[in-house]
Amino acid sequence: MSKKICVVGTGYVGLIASVGLSDFGNEIIGVDIDEKKVKMLNEGISPIYEPGVERYLKRNLESGRLTFSTDIGKSIQNADVIFIAVGTPPKDNGEADLSFVESVVKSIAENLNDYKVIVTKSTVPVGTNRWIKEKMNEFAPGKDFDVVSNPEFLREGKATQDFFHPDRTVIGYESERAKDVMFEVYRALNLISVPFVWCSLETAELIKYASNAFLATKITFINQMANLAETVGADIHTIAKTMGMDGRISPKFLHPGPGYGGSCFPKDTMAVVQTGDKYGIDMSLIRSVIEANDMQKARMVTKLEKLIGSFQGKTIAVLGLAFKAETDDIRDTPAFNLVEGILSKGAKIQAHDPQAMDNFAEVYPQIEYCKSEFDALKDSDALVLVTEWNEYRNLNLRKAKELMKGNFILDTRNLLDPELAKERGFILEGVGKG
Ligand code: UGA
Repeated sequence: MSKKICVVGTGYVGLIASVGLSDFGNEIIGVDIDEKKVKMLNEGISPIYEPGVERYLKRNLESGRLTFSTDIGKSIQNADVIFIAVGTPPKDNGEADLSFVESVVKSIAENLNDYKVIVTKSTVPVGTNRWIKEKMNEFAPGKDFDVVSNPEFLREGKATQDFFHPDRTVIGYESERAKDVMFEVYRALNLISVPFVWCSLETAELIKYASNAFLATKITFINQMANLAETVGADIHTIAKTMGMDGRISPKFLHPGPGYGGSCFPKDTMAVVQTGDKYGIDMSLIRSVIEANDMQKARMVTKLEKLIGSFQGKTIAVLGLAFKAETDDIRDTPAFNLVEGILSKGAKIQAHDPQAMDNFAEVYPQIEYCKSEFDALKDSDALVLVTEWNEYRNLNLRKAKELMKGNFILDTRNLLDPELAKERGFILEGVGKG
C-alpha cells in the first residue's frame, strides 16, 4: 500500500525524492522554509536545472499526489514516513554541520502524533541516525517511531534516470516494522528487481561515504597518471581505456580532467578524514586525494600560463562554469580556480555556460558573460574548456579560429580532436596527452 510521505528540504536530493516517490504512487508533501521556492514548485517550476525534473514535477502535481508546503508541523502530522533531505554543509574543520538536521528532528518530535518512520536521505556522518534516535527519545520520550538510513546515490545531471533505475537501494534499519514500511515506499523498485541492501544504520551511512571517497580516489588516480603521461609523452586516453578493459577496474570514472568538484566529493572526502581523526583511524589515502585534487585544480592555471606566456592584458574565453555538464550547479567547480588564477594574473575573461552563468555571476560579477560560445571567443587570445557540455564537444573550430585573436586552447576535458585543432591552426593542450 502506498504511503503518505513528508520530505523535508526541497534542495537537490529532496526535490528528486519528492517527484520520484510520488511517481511511485506515494502521496508526498515536500516541505521547505523558503516560501518563494515552495510557490515555484507548486506552479511546476523547478528551482534547479536538472534534465527531466520539471516533467515529473508537473505530472505528479497534476495527479494530486504531490504538493509543497512551508507548514512543517502539519505536514509531519499527516505523514507515515518523514524523509530528512536538508543540507549538511561542511564546517571549517571538515565536519558536517548537523544543525538543520537537528532542527527537523525537533519538529518531528513536536508533531509525533502517531508511529512514524524517520528516514535520513541527506549524507550524514556515521553515527548520525543513532544520534537522531537519541534526540527523538530525549525530545519525545516514550513515543513510537523508527529511524532508517537511506543514502542517495544519484548524480546531478542524471538525477531522474538514477532515481528510477538505481544500481542498488541501501536501507539501514533496526525494526521489522520499519523494514515493511520502506518496502512499501519502494515497492515500484522492487517490481523492477533493483537490488536492495538491508543493513545496519552505521553500515548504510558508511556505504555512502565509502562509495564517494572511492570514486574521488579513482578520478584522482587517473588525473595523476594523466599528469605523468603528458610529461613522458604517453596518451592517457589509451591508458585509461585499456585499464578499463580489465573487469576488475572498469572504464567508468577514469576520465582525467581539471579536478573533481560538486557538492558531494569535496564535502564527503573531508568528512571521511574528519571521522577517521575522530576515531583515531588513519585516513591518509583520502587526505592525499583531497590534496592531489586541489593541486590538479591549481595545475590547470599553470598549464594555461605555460601555454600562453604572460596573462597581462590578455582576454581568455572560458567555456563551461558548472562543475560538470547538464547542471547549473557551481559548487566547488574547477572553474573557480581557473577564473581566480586568470583574473589575479591580469587577464580579462569572456565566459559562457549553457546553464550556470547566473549562479556564477553571483560569485564573480566582474567577468563578462556572453550569450553564446562564439560571443565568448570573439577577439580572445586563448580558449579554456572547463565543462564537458555536448555543444562544446562539437565546437566549430573553423569559426572559432576566425573569431579569436590568438590560437591557444586549453582543453581540460579532452573534448576536442587534437589533430583537427592542429589542422585549423590551433595550439592545443589537453590533459594527459603527451
Ligand atoms: C556524485 C556521485 O557520483 C553520486 O553517486 C552521489 O550520489 C553524489 O555525488 C552525491 O553524493 O550526492 P555528482 O557530484 O552529482 O555525483 O557528480 P559526478 O558525476 O560523480 O561527478 C563529480 C565530479 O567528478 C565532477 O566534477 C566530474 O566532472 C568529476 N569527474 C567524474 C571526473 O573528473 N572524471 C570522471 O571520470 C568522473
